[in-house]
Amino acid sequence: MFFQRASLKPWNTFGIDVYANHVTIVHNVSSFFCNSRDNNIRQNEPVLLLGEGSNVLFLQDFQGKVFINRIKGIRFTETTHTWLLHVGAGENWHQLVKTTLYKGLAGLENLALIPGCVGSAPIQNIGAYGVELKQVCEYVDIIFLNDGSHQRLKATECCFGYRDSVFKHRYKNHYAITAVGFKLIKQWQPVLSYGALKMLNPKTVTPMQVFHAVCKIRRSKIPNPKYLGNAGSFFKNPLVTSPTAFDLLTLYPKIPYHLRSNGDVVLSAAGLIDQCELKGYRIGGAAVHDQQALVLINTGAASSQDIVNLARIIRRRVGEKFNIWLEPEVCFISAQGKIDSVEVIA
Ligand code: FAD
Ligand code: EPU
Repeated sequence: MFFQRASLKPWNTFGIDVYANHVTIVHNVSSFFCNSRDNNIRQNEPVLLLGEGSNVLFLQDFQGKVFINRIKGIRFTETTHTWLLHVGAGENWHQLVKTTLYKGLAGLENLALIPGCVGSAPIQNIGAYGVELKQVCEYVDIIFLNDGSHQRLKATECCFGYRDSVFKHRYKNHYAITAVGFKLIKQWQPVLSYGALKMLNPKTVTPMQVFHAVCKIRRSKIPNPKYLGNAGSFFKNPLVTSPTAFDLLTLYPKIPYHLRSNGDVVLSAAGLIDQCELKGYRIGGAAVHDQQALVLINTGAASSQDIVNLARIIRRRVGEKFNIWLEPEVCFISAQGKIDSVEVIA
């Protein structure tokens, strides 16, 4: 399907009403290359891949072509100890989690209800409630849009980190993720390290119970973008060295944090914003969510400028109070494509 001069409002969960020159819904790998060739990608028309638009902020009309990835299909195979899944990049993530659980395969339950497509999940190494994609990812298949060549990257080649991967760096442009391979261990071990999951009994809990517990926690604090535009956590949680954390926590002992195995400390960005008393703070149609300070919302008619202005104020207030300078998790898209979000709000 192909639309000319189409609104991107249905294609981003912030609900920002900007336009793209063309929007094409892609259902198979070969049409990625055909479409890109036909539309002169090699003559530098900007191209943007989208799944469900749940981690993007459009700053203005996009002067190029948007590919909406809807490559479907899930193949299951097994070895003695593992299930192997090959999943089309356009499958919905939460549906995949449910499909595996209904088939009796465990391992994705902590990642329930994360919006978006399977093919977008490796880009920021999605994570929640003690589990990250990298723990279950076996490989990522990509196609280069300029020449149609394919490559399979092993998980170790994806350089997964906290909300980070090779796809934000070396493979930033002119490629599309077409499929993701997963490896789920048959001998399931529940991951119950996250606060509210600790009350489940690791000896008796089932994957389905973890799934329902995660869904319940998420529904209690993260707004559903169907009813309130948002892109999940707007900023990343800042990582600081232990001496920095020590100084800060001595002055502000109520800042939530957790320790990493190497001694670094992850501070809660929500906690920092909250302590600046910014919950509910509003600029135009954009506001800080009143239950989760890390989530910025579109209360109805926010422009992207409202959201940028709000993010700038949050970053400045947190920076001036704690000398911690937040970085957006959400990907900013200008007329020509992805741009440095910190530069926009600095
Ligand atoms: P999009 O927003 O469409 O795209 C994101 C980026 O990936 C863009 O740069 C885009 O160009 C690129 N891209 C998309 N598809 C492809 C492709 N096939 N090939 C190449 N590049 C591509 N994230 C978490 O990690 N944990 C959470 O708990 C979490 N909770 C959330 C809750 C809510 C309510 C919302 C709205 C978001 C949340 N997120 C969370 C963020 C978001 O769900 C994830 O980042 C998700 O993986 C984005 O998927 P998407 O398909 O919507 O990607
Ligand atoms: N907190 C506050 N004020 C708030 C909200 C939270 O002080 O308004 C405190 C909580 O009390 C808690 C701490 O902050 O002690 C952490 O809060 P929460 O458990 O809600 O997690 P988070 O750090 O805010 C991260 C991810 C989420 C992920 C959850 C669960 C990032 C940037 N965000 O949020 O991912 O779902 O943990 O694991 O790492 C996303 O990336 O879009 C996202 C939603």
